[in-house]
Amino acid sequence: MKKILVTGALGQIGSELTEKLRSTYGEDNVIASDIRRPEQPSGIFEEIDVTKEKEIYEISKKYKVDTIIHLAALLSAKAEAFPKVAWEINMGGLVNALEAAKELDLKFFTPSSIGAFGPSTPKNNTPQDTLQRPTTMYGVNKVAGEILCDYYYSRFGVDTRGVRFPGLISYVTAPGGGTTDYAVEVYYEALRSGTYTSYIAKGTHMDMMYMPDALQAIIQLMEADSDRLKHRNAFNITAMSAAPEHFEEAIRKHIPDFTMDYQVDPVRQGIAESWPDSINADAAKEEWDFEAAYDMDAMTVDMLEKVREKIKKNSA
Ligand code: SER
Repeated sequence: MKKILVTGALGQIGSELTEKLRSTYGEDNVIASDIRRPEQPSGIFEEIDVTKEKEIYEISKKYKVDTIIHLAALLSAKAEAFPKVAWEINMGGLVNALEAAKELDLKFFTPSSIGAFGPSTPKNNTPQDTLQRPTTMYGVNKVAGEILCDYYYSRFGVDTRGVRFPGLISYVTAPGGGTTDYAVEVYYEALRSGTYTSYIAKGTHMDMMYMPDALQAIIQLMEADSDRLKHRNAFNITAMSAAPEHFEEAIRKHIPDFTMDYQVDPVRQGIAESWPDSINADAAKEEWDFEAAYDMDAMTVDMLEKVREKIKKNSA
């Protein structure tokens, strides 16, 4: 990667990835784009509506990028509330991005998700290659996206790559509209009020990962030797399998009075239960040496420190 266009650059992954790419590849070599211009863009920024057929193509051409990192998408809970809109953004955006990559001969990354699995998928140690019949619109989009990226690789030779992200936890940009969002909210509430009401039930396991590991994974996969990759577009990756009470336990080590109760949201609980409890990431390890650096305790130390600073700054 030398010159990179990021779509969805103001989103949960994009806002941090853009900064990391800029510090790795140079300020002027990363073009951030999103549907709306931020008040103060920190570097090169272009407005792109990914559902408009030619916008990704035009901007890619204008800056002569060699890579597209396509992140613009609706997350699972939002997609369940607006399924048709999700189809238009998640699938319409993806095909437009892939077309741009095909026309301009660009490398391509887009994330899939643990949402690409469904209730009939083996729940524990979910294999890399397995049954995928998701029951959410988001999942339908993710499976279709994985297959579409495979298709652009085999049919047109586009160098497409991707991972199935677990729930991502970060202190920079709030996720918004996801099923795993509780795992971010819990840290803010622990520090603000000392208590958190979880909309996901006790005992509900999902894979999770701290954002620095997710960003590292994207760069590592994009820089990996193409000849080693057998699963191009949908590598399982994970850092931990966790249920709400594991966050409670980890936070209590630092805030002993922290308490958690439950008020389950049936929609997000239903989505969570349709996903695996823990996924197997051996293929990512074998094919491009993926390894997560943060476990629950290391992530919790960092999250509490960074969220505390953020809250202090905002109230100053
Ligand atoms: N974190 C995402 C969501 O909850 C999963 O890909 O929608």
